[in-house]
Amino acid sequence: MVNLAVDLAGVRLKNPVMTASGCFGFGREYCDFYDLSLLGAVVVKGITLQPRLGNPPPRIAETPAGLLNSVGLQNPGVDYVIREEIPWLANFGVPVIVNINGHSSEEFGELAARLDGVPGVAALEVNISCPNVKEGGMFFGTDPAMASEVVKSARKRTRLPLIVKLSPNVTDIVLIARAVEEAGADAVSLINTLLGMAIDTRTRRPALASVVGGLSGPAVKPVALRMVWQVSRAVNIPVVGMGGIVRAEDAVEFMLAGATAVAVGSGAFYDPLCAVKVIEGLERWLEKEKIADVQEIIGGLRIEEG
Ligand SMILES: Cc1cc2nc3c(=O)[nH]c(=O)nc-3n(C[C@H](O)[C@H](O)[C@H](O)COP(=O)(O)O)c2cc1C
Repeated sequence: MVNLAVDLAGVRLKNPVMTASGCFGFGREYCDFYDLSLLGAVVVKGITLQPRLGNPPPRIAETPAGLLNSVGLQNPGVDYVIREEIPWLANFGVPVIVNINGHSSEEFGELAARLDGVPGVAALEVNISCPNVKEGGMFFGTDPAMASEVVKSARKRTRLPLIVKLSPNVTDIVLIARAVEEAGADAVSLINTLLGMAIDTRTRRPALASVVGGLSGPAVKPVALRMVWQVSRAVNIPVVGMGGIVRAEDAVEFMLAGATAVAVGSGAFYDPLCAVKVIEGLERWLEKEKIADVQEIIGGLRIEEG
């Protein structure tokens, strides 16, 4: 038996595999396929203070090795989620991490305050990196000062661990990671989607109504891995890695690059069991490599000197 448990900013995960926000809803669609308590943690769809309808369709397009989306944070609002979704999810005994989004640092603070002390909520994922909303969104995650202000505002109003979700749409992600660590983040998660677009040559129209959207899936994995490696060497807080994880070996790569935990996003759309298969495959990989504890591989990348 290998030990798969890890500690993520004070939250004990029975294994390092979580769901990525927006690719798991609130779990209701997946609970018919497997027991949600198998997961290390669930990260729910990004929520806002008020309910949102999101962007007009079409807002999902397939590309050769990934998915383009411009969902635009469709969600039923924080009050509904606290009342209907969190108590239901909490029944599975799995840590629930709530992804929060605001138009201003005050809104992030307000969301943090509302979720503080809600039974079943283990941590907040502060999304400063959504490319699909006009006001705020990715804007916060591309400037160290703004990123820092959002984190400080949330930090003041909750005792929950804050995992800050970073945008890859920047020149130097390390600058942003250091700024949010300084502002009080307990962990960082990366990457959110990369800005992209696709065109239907027959109609000569963009594949998405909003023209540009966020690219995810296997296409982004090398970029994500590079960023996780850079950030994990630059900060002293845990890193959650995601971007194109669809097999156990992908998760191993992210952990070797320095991730304490990983998340499966788009992979769940073509195989609802993807996250569970990654957990099982990770256990098998560790057994095969004769490694007793998954923590031994975190940051274990070997690089020749000279
Ligand atoms: C349809 C869709 C919706 C998403 N919604 C959110 C969201 O609400 N909040 C967020 O932080 N990230 C959101 N993401 C980004 C994912 O959580 C993840 O960071 C990204 O897709 C990279 O992982 P993947 O390649 O495994 O999908 C969304 C991604 C997709 C594909």
